[in-house]
Amino acid sequence: MRDRLKSVSGKKTLITGAASGIGRATAIAAARAGAEVVLTDIDAEGLADTVEAIGREGGKVLVSRALDISDYEAVRAFAQEVHDRHGSLDVVMNVAGVSAWGTVENLEHRHWRRLIDVNLMGPIHVIETFVPPMVRAGRGGALVNVSSAAGLLAFPWHAPYSASKFGLRGVSEVLRFDLERHGITVHLVVPGAVNTGLVQTVEIAGVDREDPRIQRYTKLFQKHAASPERVAQQILRGIERNRFLVHTSFEVRFGYWWARKFAWPYEFVMRRANDKFNSFLG
Ligand code: NAI
Repeated sequence: MRDRLKSVSGKKTLITGAASGIGRATAIAAARAGAEVVLTDIDAEGLADTVEAIGREGGKVLVSRALDISDYEAVRAFAQEVHDRHGSLDVVMNVAGVSAWGTVENLEHRHWRRLIDVNLMGPIHVIETFVPPMVRAGRGGALVNVSSAAGLLAFPWHAPYSASKFGLRGVSEVLRFDLERHGITVHLVVPGAVNTGLVQTVEIAGVDREDPRIQRYTKLFQKHAASPERVAQQILRGIERNRFLVHTSFEVRFGYWWARKFAWPYEFVMRRANDKFNSFLG
């Protein structure tokens, strides 16, 4: 078995969601660590800002392209372009994602569709177009998938988000063993609260975001949230130390352990949390 990849330094590294939040911070941190980055995001303007920030520090951006990861043909064409110009990659990081919350009676079909398309099919499109050339190249590498605490635990109102993030966790757990024989390590990042644009853009079906109670909870969330820069460091360390589960906060590490050991108290807390959330609907 070949030596596993221990650092992104000098490695061709794809990062999706690079225009904002965790993806942007990870792109900057990876470039600082010596990676040659390939960046993408649906937000062309934000992506250009990230490319400029990396350029200012003397980092190397091989390619950057604005595209929608839920569009398979767009991802395939991008992969073709990257492979034609630079050959197969060493590290692939699926960071881009969106969020929407709500109870089943408030959620619309478009919410379910979008979360599965972007958060689950998006990473699948990236995996199916970028990982096989890595396998064929035989140099090993790393695959990082950003799931969520909601990919481990059943938070209220998270059904579509958890459908996508548990799905990505399933893909990752299988590929972890499948890709081992090719020297490709797999890392599942499970952040708790992270202070990024997502906090403001999350759509809550059936709830007025301007409601002072919701604003209060948003502020509380932000106060306890990790910075995207810290999460970026944890992702790079997760690759270095070959961690499958990359935790970014003690609460999630503890919560997941606790839920597995103590089923009844976990169920009690989740019932109470659901009651609390439902009080916002009236
Ligand atoms: P963010 O909103 O700052 O960044 C997400 C990026 O994904 C944005 O730049 C956005 O333009 C891009 N994106 C959205 N849809 C896209 C599409 N169809 N195609 C290509 N790019 C698209 O949010 P954040 O927090 O940095 O999110 C990164 C990842 O972390 C997501 O997968 C999210 O689910 C996950 N996460 C975030 C948490 C948080 O508290 N912020 C907690 C747990 C997980």
